[in-house]
This record gives sequence, C-alpha cells and structure tokens, in this order.
Amino acid sequence: MRSILYKKGISVFLFLSLFVAFVPVGTNARAALREPARGRHAMVASQQELASKIGVDIIKKGGNAVDAAIATGIALAVVYPEAGNLGGGGFMLIRKANGEVHAIDYREMAPKAAGRDLYIDKNGNLIKGEGSSTVGYHASGVPGTLAGFDLAFKKYGSGRITWRDLIEPARQYAINGYVLSNRVANLLRSYDKSLSKYEESKRIFLNGGHFYEEGDTFRQPDLARTLERIERNGAAEFYAGETARMIAADMKAHGGLITLDDLKNYQAKERTALKGNYRGYEVITMPPPSSGGIVMLETLNMLEGYDIRKMQSNSAAKYHVVAEALRRSFADRAEFMGDPDFTTVPVAKLIDKKYAEERRQSIDLKKASSSVKVGHGDIPSGESMDTTNFTVVDQQGTVVVNTYTLNDLYGSQVTVKGTGVLLNDEMDDFAARPGKPNMFGLIQGEKNSVQPGKRPLSSMTPTIVLRKDGSLWFALGARGGPRIISAVIESVINVIDHDMDIQAAIDAPRIHHQWLPDELLYEPVGFSPDTLNILSEYGHKFTERPGYVAQATGIMIDGKGVRLGAIDARGDGEAVGY
Ligand code: GLY
Repeated sequence: MRSILYKKGISVFLFLSLFVAFVPVGTNARAALREPARGRHAMVASQQELASKIGVDIIKKGGNAVDAAIATGIALAVVYPEAGNLGGGGFMLIRKANGEVHAIDYREMAPKAAGRDLYIDKNGNLIKGEGSSTVGYHASGVPGTLAGFDLAFKKYGSGRITWRDLIEPARQYAINGYVLSNRVANLLRSYDKSLSKYEESKRIFLNGGHFYEEGDTFRQPDLARTLERIERNGAAEFYAGETARMIAADMKAHGGLITLDDLKNYQAKERTALKGNYRGYEVITMPPPSSGGIVMLETLNMLEGYDIRKMQSNSAAKYHVVAEALRRSFADRAEFMGDPDFTTVPVAKLIDKKYAEERRQSIDLKKASSSVKVGHGDIPSGESMDTTNFTVVDQQGTVVVNTYTLNDLYGSQVTVKGTGVLLNDEMDDFAARPGKPNMFGLIQGEKNSVQPGKRPLSSMTPTIVLRKDGSLWFALGARGGPRIISAVIESVINVIDHDMDIQAAIDAPRIHHQWLPDELLYEPVGFSPDTLNILSEYGHKFTERPGYVAQATGIMIDGKGVRLGAIDARGDGEAVGY
C-alpha cells in the first residue's frame, strides 16, 4: 500500500532536529518519503540499529518476538543509555500468533519511605534540584525493567533461548564499546550541567568532564560487570543480589529513599489489556497504570463520529477535531486516572462509545473550546520524558510492543556507584503537588498522588491494531511523555482513515493537546501558514514555539505477510528485518 503522501508526491519532511520533552536531541536528518524496511520473516524496529540487529539475531537463533524484545531492551540499556535502561520501567504488550494477548506492567513503584508531600517544602512550594521529583536520589521509583523482562521471558519466551543469550550481546557492547554518533556525543555534552552533579555519571557519561566526541568508542566496564552478574544470577541479582545491595548502599549514602526491602518487594504485574475498536478495527492497548490506552481509545471513540477521511490528512478541520478530542480525554486523565491497585479508575465508562458521544457533543467544528470550561466528564464516583519504544514481529506473527523509560533523558542523572546503572526520575509522573503541573506541564489529581508502593500514572501507549479478519495489521508505540498518546492516535488515524503505510503514518505531521496548559502544539515542519491561520481563527492558542510530537516505531504486515518496519523521521534508530 502506498501512502497518500506518496501518491500525491508531496515532498514534505526533512526533519533536522528533534525537541522532545524540551530537550534538544541533536541533528538527525532523514529524507522525506521513505519506504519502510522490509522483512519476509521478522522485523525489529528500535531507536538504535545495534539493538535492532541483536533482536533479529535472537529470532534467527530460534527465539520468538518476546525473546527478541528482551534482548533488544537489554541492549538499549547499553547502546541507548539516554532512555534504554535497567534502572527504569515500562510496559510490554504481547499478542501471540494464536491471538492470546498479554500486558506486562513493569512500571516503577514508589519506595516505602515516599509520601504525598515528599516534594513540597515547608512553604508549600515544589522542591527544586536535589530532593525534587525530577533529579537526584529522591526522584527514582523502584525500577521494574528486569522484573518485567524476567516475567515475560519465563512465561512467554520460546524456551529455545537462554537468559544468557539475551544478555551477552549487550554485555559485549558494554565491554568493547561502540562508536558514538555526532548526535549522541552532542546530547551527552548538552547534559553537562545536570550529569556533572553526580560524580559517577560525570565519570562515565561525560568522560570525567573531558566529553566524548563523535567517533569515540564508548565503553561501560561497570555496566558490563553488572550485566555479567545478571547473566549469571538472573534478574534476582538486581533485586536481591550484589547489585541490589550496591543500589541500596548508594541510596543510603546520599539520603535516597530506595532500600533493599523496596527492591526485594518489587513485582512486575500482568494486567488485562484494553480492547477497543476504531471503525471496526480492533485496537489493543495498555491499561492503567498507563493512561495511554484509555486516553487513546476515548479520543478515537470521539473521532469516530467525524468523517476524518473526508477532512483529509493535513487539513485544519482534522487537526481541530483531533485537538478538541484530546483536550477532553486529557481532562479526564487528570481527574480519573491513577494506579488501579490504589484507586478506582472508571475504565469501562471512559472507553465506552456512548460516553465519547456525550463528550463529543460540546465540540464545535469551527471554534476551539476553553479547557477551563471543558473540564472532565461527568462520571459518578465508584467506578503519566524520555522513553523509548521498540516493536518486534517474529516469523509466526507474534508481536511485542515495548515502551520503557527513565522518564527524563538520563533519568534522575544519578548513576549508582560501581554499577553503571542510571536511575529513573519516574517519581515526577506522580502528581508531586496535586493540581499543579509536572515537568510535562501535566496537571494531575489526587488519584495520582505519591503513596508508598504505588505506581505513577504513565502515558506510554504500546498498541496493536488488527485487520477485520482478526489478523495482525500493525503495531506501534512511541517515546515523548504525554505526547506519546497523540503520536500513536494520529498514526492510527493515518493508517485507517488516510490509507498510509506505517512509515508515512508515523512520519506525517502531528499536533498535541493535553487540556492544560490550554495550548495547541504543532510541529515545526509540515504545517502551512494557511492551516495555522485557520486553527488560529478557530480560537486555538499555540505553544510559544512549535515542537516535535514524540517519536514512534512501528511494524505493519502487508497483504503478502511482509513485515514493514518504520522508525520515526524525528529521531534515531533502524528497523531491521530479514
Ligand atoms: N515517563 C513518561 C510516561 O510514563 O508517560
């Protein structure tokens, strides 16, 4: 299938740089109108080519998509340390070739010593710098990545691949190093101020303050030793072994919160995946503690009431209704969503078509609403910066979409002494001060307040879409905080309503609206002044500067069963198939 963009021969994108979640991620130009990567048997699409290759090699060795996803995830912790991780957490959505669906939640958990007002000073203001929810030893939730991978491996791996097979390729890159690109060398340098505050991070990631240059070989011997212990002792090494003791000791030495008990008590959980549909196509996605799935399905349900195809892909009319639907779903996110183990989330109501119909009533096709007036929906009581996504499809047709994160790039900026492991700053995905914005400007309510053992609300949106005959059509996810949700929704619409292939769908220009602040974010490339003028006439207020809306990776199965892999034009990576 050729995209509409292809058909019209519109030369659109030369994405010169990426600003996701307020961070310049360097210059990475990708040409316009790209064909997706093709593979007759299997495909891995991740944000680092070396990691994608490792995943494909696992499949060639007899592993399935789950094995490949785990190997890719472990590799990203070494070759993509800004977001790939052992010290973070995320979500893995699996659909086996036989149609079984599994949703693994390995989101970080608040340590036992954490509480509602942890990040508020005696004057009621948010604490900044060390002690805050965004940087330093207080910012980390108990990491979930290895627990999640362990669960997935034991329950859904092929059984033909060993744990060691999954870790060893990453360990080799940690020992022998890999060559730094210009983008990554620049990115590391741009984090000088924050990483320098932590001696271990400065030593490893800033070359002791001398900085790395493009073309340098980046080696991580501490991380290699950690991986060697994990290879030998399993994931338990991270939660109860020497690595756990090193994490707890470093935390204690710096007034941090995570204890050995917190690590021992961490559990990855299986959740029931959310299933909805858009124009008759089944959409499978992540339930709470990610808000991503609910917000996506609620938004798609609202959009189903419009003839989006007729509006055409780049029109002001379409961006307007998408923004208005997002405005309403994000208002509901702020009010109703949190960790389902701690609070009741009215999931069924929020993804109900009738509810969407009610929410849609207040959308004026020619006038932007006011976010303050829109507020959240009427639901009777009783009933969550930088992240990375990868998508894998194997020969049998099992698909895995995995989104995991350290939250901000390089997480809390803290590297645990002697381990090479960067820790997350996921505590900022809680409402540090309910009713006040977090680092993404997101307002959140009491349902997402900090409580010991609770998981912060996420925006990660791993998603699988089926054809009407129930077979796998495409799967995708994204990085970029709350913008993830908009990126996934707009890509789904681009395929279903605008007949785009997965590459064109992901590359097409996007907008983002998250209710508050009451601003519409549009991308620096792909929006004509005419479109923006119409949106402005409708009453939309734009963000001060345009910015990119997340980065997605996805895979589509074409009519002949060929796996088509796509990496977002806005960032790095490679889809590798065979
Ligand atoms: N840390 C970003 C998210 O989970 O949404």
